[in-house]
Amino acid sequence: MINKNISFVCAVVVSVVLVEIFNSTKPKHPYAGLNIEQLVTKYEYPIEKHEVETDDGYILSIHRIPHGPEKTPTKRTPVLFMHGFTQSATDFINLGPNKALSFLLVDKGYDVWLGNARGTTWSRKHKFLNPNKDKQFWDYSLDEIGYYDVPAFIDYISEVTGADSLHYVGYSQGTTVFFILGSDKPEYMKKIKLMTALAPAMFLKDPAGPVGVLIRFRMIMDWFLDIFNFLDVLSENSFISSYLRHICNEHSLFVELCLHHTFLLHGYSYEQINKTELSVLYSNTPAGASPRQVKHIAQLIDSGVFSRYDFGKEENLRKYGQKRPPAYDVLKVNAPIALYYSSNDWVINVKNVEKISRTLPNVVKSYKVPLEAFNHNDFIYAKNVVDLLYAEVVNEILKY
Ligand SMILES: *[C@@H]1O[C@H](CO)[C@@H](O)[C@H](O)[C@H]1NC(C)=O
Repeated sequence: MINKNISFVCAVVVSVVLVEIFNSTKPKHPYAGLNIEQLVTKYEYPIEKHEVETDDGYILSIHRIPHGPEKTPTKRTPVLFMHGFTQSATDFINLGPNKALSFLLVDKGYDVWLGNARGTTWSRKHKFLNPNKDKQFWDYSLDEIGYYDVPAFIDYISEVTGADSLHYVGYSQGTTVFFILGSDKPEYMKKIKLMTALAPAMFLKDPAGPVGVLIRFRMIMDWFLDIFNFLDVLSENSFISSYLRHICNEHSLFVELCLHHTFLLHGYSYEQINKTELSVLYSNTPAGASPRQVKHIAQLIDSGVFSRYDFGKEENLRKYGQKRPPAYDVLKVNAPIALYYSSNDWVINVKNVEKISRTLPNVVKSYKVPLEAFNHNDFIYAKNVVDLLYAEVVNEILKY
């Protein structure tokens, strides 16, 4: 009897594996597996890659789409995009022309720059630290991305283009690092024409969905990250990323699993996702993060206070001269800011956006996406993202 059951289970497993292998040979989206440079070239837009060195020795890549397929001589205003957690510049171009916000702005006459934060696929480089060996390379949280990376990009863009001000577009973590920059180096705020905040992440208390419950156990996650002594997490070649790339395509038997586990984090609805495009969207994502970055985000969710990384009492005393990590002084973030948010975003709840709106001194617009189902991921990947969101975003940018 037992033997029979075991044989049956084995037969099922073998069949599933065979079907999955067979499915993986089916033609995926023709652009699946391409990187940002190959994709933009396929779309027949020019793409450049520049390297920028930060004050603490990181060598970051920034991608640029300087103009459209036809070279036009007009002087273009630069726009700096900063991506979300474990994402990269690629997430801003994946949807392609006439759809991705980056291409819409190129077509409107802007000079688009797409930053890659330290530690992500295109920014794993340092003057003397080796990301594959040196733990020290990964000793950073959101604090350093805001304090070093973003201003390095802004300075570099000014230097190359001669422009003394630019637009900034941040998505999720890409907004957090802007708020950090404004608090730490407020002199940069006068260089910003308008900051477009897609799913603004400053106060993270009480996220909906499983994260809201799991955060109570964040000590276990910290402990897990510590005992395994990971250098980095969710990098492009990690096991989890490879697994996501495998199941996140329309032919996988497990595509529902892909949709469920990513959307459990972002807001439970995937009516706005185009399954045919999943294999493109996941070709370059996740793109990596540091364990300290993960812990920092967990701290922000847990405390609800927008503050620096918490090293623990003793180390905090040494670094900050106080036991608790100091809160960021966001009153200094006085660039004009447009906030875009949605009610089904499980990462950024509406109450927290309202709190940002009350706290920041120069909020010029607050726009709620007019679709109940719109989730955190939809800000960059929704099928109808142009009608629901980007048309509004572009109109606002054109005013500044
Ligand atoms: C979904 O993606 C495919 C492939 O890119 C495209 O042909 C199709 O038009 C898309 N569907 C919608 C509803 O956007």
